[in-house]
Amino acid sequence: MAETFELDGTAAQARLAELAALLVDAVAHGASVNFLAGFSQPEAEAFWTGQLPGIRAGATRLFVAHAGGRLVGTVLLFLAGQPNGPHRAEIGKMLVHSTMRRQGLGRALLVAAEAAALASGRTLLLLDTTSGSAGDLLYRSQGWVAVGQVPGHALTVEGEPSDTTIFYKRLGAGISGG
Ligand SMILES: CC(C)(COP(=O)(O)OP(=O)(O)OC[C@H]1O[C@@H](n2cnc3c(N)ncnc32)[C@H](O)[C@@H]1OP(=O)(O)O)[C@@H](O)C(=O)NCCC(=O)NCCS
Repeated sequence: MAETFELDGTAAQARLAELAALLVDAVAHGASVNFLAGFSQPEAEAFWTGQLPGIRAGATRLFVAHAGGRLVGTVLLFLAGQPNGPHRAEIGKMLVHSTMRRQGLGRALLVAAEAAALASGRTLLLLDTTSGSAGDLLYRSQGWVAVGQVPGHALTVEGEPSDTTIFYKRLGAGISGG
C-alpha cells in the first residue's frame, strides 16, 4: 500500500541516496527532467543536496510516495520568493519509479503538492513538461491548463531538441489580473 507524505530537510538528507536513485531511474528511462543520458548517482545526489537549503528554509516543499519500505516517487513545490508572487508556486521533479507507474502515485503526489500549496496561500501553480509526455497527460487529467508550446525548448536525454508545454492551474478562488 503506497502512502504520500512530506519530507523535511533532515529526513530528505537522510534519504538522499534514495531520492537520487529515483532521479537516476527517471533519466535512465528517458524522462526529460533537466539531465542527459549517463546521469549518475553522484550527480543526482548533488542535485538533491542543492535542494536541501531550500527545503530547510521552507521555500521548497518535498513530497514523496512510499511503498514496500522504499521511496517510489517525488514532487517538489517551489514557493515563489518574489515580493509580487506571494500567491505563486512551481512544481518540479514529479517522478514515479519506472516499475510503479500507472498506479495513481503521480496523481497522489500532485494532489498532495496542490493541497499544501493552497494551504499556504499559493493559489497559482505553474510547471512545464515535455509535450505529449506522461507528465503532460497527468497534468491535463488533473485540470491543469496548457498555456502553449515552446518548440525545441529542451533536449531529450539523447540530446535531441524537444518541445515543452507550459501549464498553469488556479487553486481555490485565486487572484485574478495580469
Ligand atoms: C509523469 C509520471 C510522474 C506519472 O506518474 P504515474 O504514477 O505513472 O501517474 P498516475 O498513475 O498517477 O496517472 C494519473 C493519470 O495521468 C495520466 N497518465 C499518466 N501517465 C500516463 C501515460 N504513460 N499514458 C497515458 N496517460 C498517462 C492518465 O490520465 C492517468 O490516469 P489513469 O491511469 O487513470 O488513466 C511518471 O510517468 C514519471 O515519473 N515519468 C518520468 C518523469 C517525468 O517525465 N516527470 C514529469 C516531469 S514534469
